[in-house]
Amino acid sequence: MNALGKEERVKDKDISDRKKEHIELAMRSQLAHWSNDKRFYYEPLLGKHPDKQDVNVRFFDKELRFPIWVSSMTGGAKGARHINENLARACSEFGLGMGLGSCRPLLEDPSKYLEDFAIRSIIGPKQPLFANLGIAQIEKSVKSGEVSKIEDLVGLLDADGLIVHVNPLQEWIQPEGDRLVTPPIQTIQSLLEKTDIQLIVKEVGQGMGPGSLKELMQLPVIIEFGAYGGTNFSQLEISRRDGGNESELQELAYLGHTADEMVTYFNNEKIRLGDIACKGVIVSGGIKNYLDGYYFVKRLSHTAVYGQASAMLHHARISYESLQNFIREQIDGYLLASELLTLR
Ligand SMILES: Cc1cc2nc3c(=O)[nH]c(=O)nc-3n(C[C@H](O)[C@H](O)[C@H](O)COP(=O)(O)O)c2cc1C
Repeated sequence: MNALGKEERVKDKDISDRKKEHIELAMRSQLAHWSNDKRFYYEPLLGKHPDKQDVNVRFFDKELRFPIWVSSMTGGAKGARHINENLARACSEFGLGMGLGSCRPLLEDPSKYLEDFAIRSIIGPKQPLFANLGIAQIEKSVKSGEVSKIEDLVGLLDADGLIVHVNPLQEWIQPEGDRLVTPPIQTIQSLLEKTDIQLIVKEVGQGMGPGSLKELMQLPVIIEFGAYGGTNFSQLEISRRDGGNESELQELAYLGHTADEMVTYFNNEKIRLGDIACKGVIVSGGIKNYLDGYYFVKRLSHTAVYGQASAMLHHARISYESLQNFIREQIDGYLLASELLTLR
């Protein structure tokens, strides 16, 4: 077993067997087209095989062993405890961090669904764990002078801070969605004035344009992109409306900004702004694998990690072993990329 527990390659396979296998497989391994991954230079002479060293990324007052984040998903739903337990266990094993899904049910009744969200004992004291609320709940709490309830929620979960998800497009499409009275940036600024809670601010799959990013970059928060290109909650809400019939709202699902675009906006704004208060970035939304993750983390001109939601969920629902293998491959792939790939 190596440092990350991956099985060593079988070394004693008879050489002649292997050569025979190569001949047979080579006949079936011709690429059908010329297109290669244009994001990277592959430099076989300039790196070595990874030695499994931790990468260590600062995340507020804690550290991740590898630049991988489990983006917010579930709680208050059937099966949520099992999923959150698996995710927390994996974060503990591999030194990652995670966001909880919306903890709104706990804000309304702290005893309800607490079991789904109370995973500090599983993730352990060292790994970042963040509670999660929507901007509409924050707006209400700030306006009614009940910020202490948010602080109580973070305390109840022994979380390191709070993720505020900002999803006005989804809320507007959702038949039972909340309506915002104040632009989210003002609500976030007010919240920061009233509390010391560490904040992550994110979209949920539509991303943000340069104006929103620029405002956030000047605040002492971690920004999670929640970019366009993966799970799309506007699409999800459109499908829920009218029994999935065709809707005039469909075009709204195509609005937003990809992670690629957002990295460019961020880098451009950083040049213009100079020093920024922003504590780091989680590049998420449509991140398929470690190559996407490596590409964006390297391109972004600030402390960055990459986040995945649906891919983690897929494996966490199956079993812990499935999630464990998936994350191991993410880490191995990321480390290999760090040795052999440079940005074009
Ligand atoms: C089942 C599911 C539930 C989610 N629930 C939340 C949530 O409660 N709060 C939140 O901030 N984001 C939520 N998200 C959004 C993700 O955190 C992420 O921003 C989005 O799915 C894009 O990432 P992906 O393309 O890797 O899935 C959810 C995503 C999924 C798949």
